[in-house]
This record gives sequence, structure tokens and C-alpha cells, in this order.
Amino acid sequence: MNKITIGQIQNAPIIDKNIYGHFSEHLGHCIYGGIFVGKDSPIPNVNGMRTDVVEAMKRLKVPVLRWPGGCFADEYHWRDGVGKERRRMVNTNWGGTVEDNSFGTHEFMELCRQVGCAPYVNINVGSGTVREMAEWVEYMNSDGDSTTVRERWANGRKAPFDVKYWGIGNENWGGGGNMRPEYYADVYRQFQTYCRTYGDNVPYKIACGPDTANYEWTEVLMRNAGNYMDALTLHYYTITKEWADKGSATDFDDALYFETLRKANYMDELITKHSAIMDRYDPTRRVALLVDEWGCWHNVEPGTNPGFLYQQNAMRDAMVAALSLNIFNRHSARVRMTNIAQVVNVLQSIILTDDEKMVLTPTYHVFDLFKGHMDAELMQCMLECPKLENGMERLSVSASQKNGVITLTIANFTDETAVQVEGIHARRISARVLSATPQAYNSFDAPNRVSPEVFNRFETTESGINLTMPACSIVSLSFDVNHPDI
Ligand code: AHR
Repeated sequence: MNKITIGQIQNAPIIDKNIYGHFSEHLGHCIYGGIFVGKDSPIPNVNGMRTDVVEAMKRLKVPVLRWPGGCFADEYHWRDGVGKERRRMVNTNWGGTVEDNSFGTHEFMELCRQVGCAPYVNINVGSGTVREMAEWVEYMNSDGDSTTVRERWANGRKAPFDVKYWGIGNENWGGGGNMRPEYYADVYRQFQTYCRTYGDNVPYKIACGPDTANYEWTEVLMRNAGNYMDALTLHYYTITKEWADKGSATDFDDALYFETLRKANYMDELITKHSAIMDRYDPTRRVALLVDEWGCWHNVEPGTNPGFLYQQNAMRDAMVAALSLNIFNRHSARVRMTNIAQVVNVLQSIILTDDEKMVLTPTYHVFDLFKGHMDAELMQCMLECPKLENGMERLSVSASQKNGVITLTIANFTDETAVQVEGIHARRISARVLSATPQAYNSFDAPNRVSPEVFNRFETTESGINLTMPACSIVSLSFDVNHPDI
């Protein structure tokens, strides 16, 4: 039997809605073709943004979108992407394609406006200058009558864009300059000085954080630059096999399925250990730990450009998403934003497109099932369940409450099983389930093979609810409650 006991947490953290954030890089067909098709495209669009993709993102209430990279950010010069004449460049990171910069600052802000999300702009530290960054911040946020602001006016935008989230470099321990932590900490301190406040828009400054288990990076950054940052951002990708041959997105056996889960579950240890270092320098948790790149990184689909990172998305990916989002929720006292990589057509996408066709992936549906957690108060969730052979618990859970409604999300990684939930008196229950074999995926020909259904395999009890979870499934329950026990 599996048992989940739900309770209140004293001074419970709020699960920041930005934990449900996304990432869009100039990479493959993420921006071009996936999001932006241009005003003259036969694909229905508003100001060049695909209507189908924007509508799908709106339905998820995407809270924040990171742009323009990734690796691309550290080679991006923002002036190339504003005004009538756009400079062309070769995207050396991703497939050597020609980047014509037709999607730039104003287009990104238009995308965020249509989606209704906050923009998160990642500036160029690796090959950019302090002045270039300072002028981008001024261009976006200032209301003063300066030459830079006049440039914005001339480009058709009078009011400041008021961008809050600024990432200062990307993976500066690697592609963003191969810096040592002591050096980057100093560079960060310098850059952030000139990331100015305009009006009442105080920029939220995000420092490049560690790759995976580089604890030394976190230690040095917190020691040398912790006082100058609002957040430090971790990158961790789930790679089932190894870098050279990561494994197929759809063709895998049970052993590889459980190995993927084990690797994804490592996120919990990473956050715990990086947070413990941060706790020593920042016991009040002023500085957030973000995870602005995460997700499954598989081999590209056969026949596609290896530099485009286009991969299918199966129920296994959905399980990884559910596991990861439950981990982030549980760490929400420190983790305040995450951005799955990447929103359309790249790595673990929520949306795939092929010319005018669009399909929602199983991962999309997980974000939909978890929406109730956004900006809700974290609840305690004690889990008693058997372990899998790979050492993980067979279930993953998190719970939250907002306006008298509890959201409980449970992932069952293996066979059908009964789950007893205690600690709540549930009324007006609504529940949905996503369930399929780990290999199942949605294609353009069969777009609804994996999609959520109403879930009714439960019964209420005096003190909770008993449910039967299908094999390889994710259930999201929401209920009105009264809490006589609390
Ligand atoms: O998301 C793909 C790439 O992975 C990003 O550009 C980079 O930051 C990371 O290494």
C-alpha cells in the first residue's frame, strides 16, 4: 500500500508561478518556424507569431519566458536585432545556419505580450561588453530622453518595456567564456553594477550558476558575489545514456526507462546540496536558486539536423516532467523559477510543429495538470511507499493550497497501484489523469494518443481519499477542503 499524508507547513513557502517557466533560444526551429513565421506567412499569425502556438502557451498560463539563449545569448548582439536593417550572422552554436535577426527585441516583447508572460532576457557576457549590456537595459527600461531611448522610439515603441528578469551570462563556466568561478564572480559584479534601475523597475539580477554538481562554483559565487545577486541559476539535463549516444527519445526498453527516471531524480540531490551551500551564505534565503535549463536531452530524431536538437517527446518525458515539477515545488523555499528546455521543437518541448501542423506533447499536458500549484502555498506531503529497483520511491508527489483549494499531483512510475491519501476532508473533487506506456507519444498523425482524461477511480473516506492509479500515470486532484485536524 502507498500512503500520502497531507498537512500544513508553518510559514509555508509560496510555489512561485515562475517555476512553471519556459525557455526559447535561437536554435533549430524553436523561434523560426516554431514561434515566429513572419507577418506574410500563410500560417495564421498575429504580427508574425503563430496563433496556434501562442494560444497553446496561453492555455498553460506560461508565466515567464527566457530568451535569446542559452549558448546563443553569449554571441548575441542586441542591436543586430532592432530597426529596419538587421545584420546577418552565422549561428555557430546551432547548425551553422544564417541568423537574419528578423526576430529581435521588439518581436520577443510582442511574443510575451501575446502570451501574457514576463520576459526574461539573458544578456551577453561571453563576447559582449558592459556598455552593450547597459544600453540594452536602457533601451528596454528607460523613459529618459537619451539617444538610446530615442532609438527605441524610432523603432516604434514609446513606452519602456519594463523588463524585470536579467540573466547575466550563460554557462560562463563553459560556452559562455570558459571562466573560472573567481573570474566570473568578478565579471558578474562588474556587469551587474551597470544593469541599472529605471523608474521603479529594479532589475532582478540572475548570475550564472553551476553545471550539475559543480559545488565549487556555487561556493565561490555565493562567497564572492552573493550580495550582488537576486538569483543563481543551475543547469541540469537528464541524459539517459551518455553524451556521445544519449539514447533514442522513443525507442527504449524498461531498463532505460527506469534509468532515465533515476537520472532525473538526481535533481533533488543537486538542489539539496547547492541549497545547503547557499544556506551558509544566505540563511534568510534572499537569493533564489533557479533552474533555467532542465529536461531530457535525447538523440535527435533520425534524419534531422544534429545542430537543431529536435527530439520526440514520449510518456517517459512526461514522467520526468512530473517528477521534476514535484521536486521543484517541494524546494520552493529556495527555488523560485525554472525554465524547461525548450518551449517548441528543441529538446523536451511542450509543442512540436511541422510547417502549419502543431502537436502538444505529453510534457505539455503535465504542465497543464500542474497549473493549480502556481502561486499556491506548499503543503507537507509525507510519502510512504515501496522503492523501485533503481532506489527511487515508486511515486512522486507534491501538494499545495490556494483559496481553499488543494492541488495534489502524483506520478506513479510503474504498475497499477492503490494509493491512500490522508489528512484532508475533500469536497468537490475534480481529477484528471495522463496515462500511457512510457514509449507512447503524440505525432502529427495521432496527436491525441497521450492526452489527459477525467479521472474517477477514487472514493472519499472519513479522513481522505483512496485512489487506484493506472500503470505509468500522472494524476492531478483538486479539492475544496476543511481542515478539522489542523
Ligand atoms: O538548451 C540547449 C543548450 O544547452 C543551451 O544553449 C546551453 O545553455 C546548454 O548547454
